[in-house]
Amino acid sequence: MKVTIHKLFEYFIETAAAEPPECFIGFSFARPPRLKDFLADLDPELSLDWNGASFLGLPALRNRVLDQAGLSDLSPDDVLITAGTAEANYLLFRQLLASGDEIITETPGWPQAGNIAKSIGARLVEVPRDESQGWHLDPQAVARAITPRTRMIFLTNPNNPTGRLIPESDLRALADLAERHGIWLVVDEVYAGLEWVGHRMPSVAGMTRFGITTGSVSKALGLQGLRTGWMICQSPQVICDAMILRENGSEIMNILGEHIAEVALRPDRLAGSLAQARKDGAATLDRLEAFVDGQARLGWHRPEAGLIGLARVEGTDGESLARALLQPPYRTFLLPGSAYGLPQHVRIGAGGGPEARLEEGLGRLSALLCSGQI
Ligand SMILES: Cc1ncc(COP(=O)(O)O)c(C=O)c1O
Repeated sequence: MKVTIHKLFEYFIETAAAEPPECFIGFSFARPPRLKDFLADLDPELSLDWNGASFLGLPALRNRVLDQAGLSDLSPDDVLITAGTAEANYLLFRQLLASGDEIITETPGWPQAGNIAKSIGARLVEVPRDESQGWHLDPQAVARAITPRTRMIFLTNPNNPTGRLIPESDLRALADLAERHGIWLVVDEVYAGLEWVGHRMPSVAGMTRFGITTGSVSKALGLQGLRTGWMICQSPQVICDAMILRENGSEIMNILGEHIAEVALRPDRLAGSLAQARKDGAATLDRLEAFVDGQARLGWHRPEAGLIGLARVEGTDGESLARALLQPPYRTFLLPGSAYGLPQHVRIGAGGGPEARLEEGLGRLSALLCSGQI
């Protein structure tokens, strides 16, 4: 069945086609580096053919991927390089689910799972996160959702859009469930690396042979244009099946993406980039929190990780607010919660660096909220 458009992407297309926003209170990624930041570490003689070494991806990059996830005891053959986390997830949904299967996911969560499940004829079973508990996900509720038809659990950690972390003890409980029922546990870690509470959570690919971790250099390192990500799984069959499907789509890896990502993930460089992103992100998130605290019509749970969170809106719905804010004189972007099935919320973000013009955007949002217009 055809893949149909999701509300979130529809909204992005719509806003891209309209007058461009001048300010963004919605970016989820750290300030993107420039190409010149990498030139000294790249070989000008690099052939722009494929990497010539492995269809799984550049071996040095696969080792870096394991190191950054704290999975150095796994084999580089447990890693497949993909065109971002999005492609890694897509390959898994397409190869591991069939019509009539059930996939359990969280709500709110990343809409890709539902979109692809629907096109396959699989049934999406949604487990709500509890807003009154700071968007906590209850592993017991996940357990209760399992049926003999369940084939996969798909979660984001940190969560998009709330920034909530699944703690290690809950991840272990979920890994046990996956083992016990023989279900794939796919955890999308695209937002890992910018934790504000505690430390980065362990990756499920290291916890169970049913665990699959997906991720990329897109968010904490601001390198989403490289289209370079990965899946990590100890099952050679999963990696092989995904590689076979990818051959029918993007076919091979983006060679520049592989090399730049490998440089970006070298330990010293990674530590420096994360320290900078953390410093910038903490400051902009503090600003966002002070703003929300000062607005009678907004309330939120500050994200535990990453640069986005979900705010509840009073007195109007999230979509009316987002659309009015896009119009002159405000011309400021944020994402309506309806993109996640939550009409009373908006997704706000503190990423994108100075180009997002966050401070000015917040001033415009405040003006709109106080204008009596909505
Ligand atoms: C949860 C989640 N997964 C995957 C993606 C896609 O990331 P990538 O650029 O690595 O494909 C995004 C992008 O916003 C996301 O929020």
